[in-house]
Amino acid sequence: MSTTFTMIGGEGPNSYREHSKYQRALLEAAKEKINEAISTKLDINFTSNIVNIADFGCSTGPNTFAAVQTIVDAVEHKYPVDTEFQVFFNDTSDNDFNTLFKTLPPGRKYFATGVSGSFFGRVLPRNSFHVGVCSYSLHYLSKVPKEIKDRDSPVWNKDIHCTGFSKDAAKLYLDQYKIDMESFLSSRAQELVSGGLLLLLGSCLPNGVQISETVNGMMMDFIGSSLNEIAKQGLIDQEKLDAFKLHVYLAHADDLKRIIKDNGSFTIEVFEKISHAKGEHPLDPEYLTVSFKSTIGGVVTSQFGQEAMEKTYELVKEKTQEMLPQLAKAKPGMQYLIVLRKN
Ligand SMILES: C[S@@+](CC[C@H](N)C(=O)[O-])C[C@H]1O[C@@H](n2cnc3c(N)ncnc32)[C@H](O)[C@@H]1O
Repeated sequence: MSTTFTMIGGEGPNSYREHSKYQRALLEAAKEKINEAISTKLDINFTSNIVNIADFGCSTGPNTFAAVQTIVDAVEHKYPVDTEFQVFFNDTSDNDFNTLFKTLPPGRKYFATGVSGSFFGRVLPRNSFHVGVCSYSLHYLSKVPKEIKDRDSPVWNKDIHCTGFSKDAAKLYLDQYKIDMESFLSSRAQELVSGGLLLLLGSCLPNGVQISETVNGMMMDFIGSSLNEIAKQGLIDQEKLDAFKLHVYLAHADDLKRIIKDNGSFTIEVFEKISHAKGEHPLDPEYLTVSFKSTIGGVVTSQFGQEAMEKTYELVKEKTQEMLPQLAKAKPGMQYLIVLRKN
């Protein structure tokens, strides 16, 4: 089973490029705090006039371009010297880097480099970047624990994601998340220069809230139940579906903070809940369906084929419509900005 979680590429109607305004809104909402952190916490000991920026899990754009531009502007404001910028765009090798490079903003003030590889390992040389960003990418696990996928195991998880309600399954997901975050942080700690900053943005869960109580979790539940319906119709293999788990895990805020502290490579300069300009997801079945298609549809296609994916999402749309009253009562998730300075 594929261990990558690739967004739908290109510039078409289902593409991540066309459906990532929700993620973009967090960046916009966090912009002032990012500027402030770069202004007050970044401490570059210049040995040349080159400033290196890295985006880990950049996807195809345009959000990565906005994140990078925010950092370039803030660094130029802090160090109004003759600086040249180099940007490392990192994602897995399945990412649509062609679209990324075709749509690079004209007139940009940086040199662009693609860096393919999993950010759970080293992707850059030691001490090679000054400011890094990772936005909406750290809820993807490198893998799902195998016991959870095994129909014969006592901790087999019948849902396609960690709903949070089975304590044993949740513990296994959290254990894997800790391993992955530890790898991510240790790799970045080696690559980041001393005095450099790492900006993390994304979704986590308020303490005490289970993912299935949020819109994100409910949508994943609809995808799972729709897949089960088409398996019952014989369109996909039930056994294959039983082993299909999304390697997605949204940590609770306190767990995330604890993992960063335990890693010990960084000082937490900012750990804040950010109110999203778009608030929670809009309760529009069309919007929700396409939005979860552009992020999760790719992995469904890679496992079950294009036709099964399209049929699944037709059902997802119907369920979203039927369940609007429940979606309206969903508990809010949490969007965060974390600023880490290398110790
Ligand atoms: C939801 S997109 C976020 C894209 C962009 N950062 C944004 O904020 O819109 C998540 C991205 O993380 C990438 N990703 C997931 N796991 C990864 C890994 N282990 N290494 C590198 N990239 C990864 C996916 O391929 C995808 O492009």
